[in-house]
Amino acid sequence: MRNTIENELNEGPMIRRLRPSDMDAVVKLDSKIFGRRRERYFETKLKMALADTGIEVSLAAEKDEIFVGFLLARVYYGEFGIAEKVAVLDTLDVHPDFRGSGVGRALMRQLRLHLQALQINVLQTEVSWDNQDLLRFFNGQGFELAPRLCLDLDLRTPVPEPEVD
Ligand SMILES: CC(C)(COP(=O)(O)OP(=O)(O)OC[C@H]1O[C@@H](n2cnc3c(N)ncnc32)[C@H](O)[C@@H]1OP(=O)(O)O)[C@@H](O)C(=O)NCCC(=O)NCCS
Repeated sequence: MRNTIENELNEGPMIRRLRPSDMDAVVKLDSKIFGRRRERYFETKLKMALADTGIEVSLAAEKDEIFVGFLLARVYYGEFGIAEKVAVLDTLDVHPDFRGSGVGRALMRQLRLHLQALQINVLQTEVSWDNQDLLRFFNGQGFELAPRLCLDLDLRTPVPEPEVD
């Protein structure tokens, strides 16, 4: 609440939790960046983000009641062999007309406050290496290169046969 008031006084965006009813706004905003509507993709993502163990860490940003940005994040509690609680930032989008006015920063700030309150110490994300805007933004936010490698396997390639002597 205090942050909301601070932001409004600074003419920053109002940050609130993302709601299932934001689905349309999310899809519309994403289509501006991605080039086409991805309803199915976001239906699943939004369901996962909003249902996860009842902890909502996905956020929306509004300016004068206009939906100007959002982020989708999830919290993992020692799943998949991970000992520590970690949060994963899945998507961050700011409306092109509202970039450079502190919306991304305000979303990240609120996310960090929520995660700190949940005593989560690590936030992970993945970025396409050619998304320079996002890479620079994340660099400014303090993200560092993770000591992990992401691997993809094209399943249309032939399955390697075992070698016979
Ligand atoms: C990257 C993005 C989130 C930044 O949001 P924004 O609201 O424009 O950023 P802000 O105005 O809050 O800027 C915050 C800081 O980041 C810096 N920054 C933002 N965009 C930057 C860029 N492209 N290059 C360098 N720095 C940048 C700002 O200079 C500012 O720095 P400061 O805190 O030192 O003043 C936004 O441009 C975006 O949504 N891009 C598309 C993201 C995308 O491709 N999403 C889909 C995959 S998840």
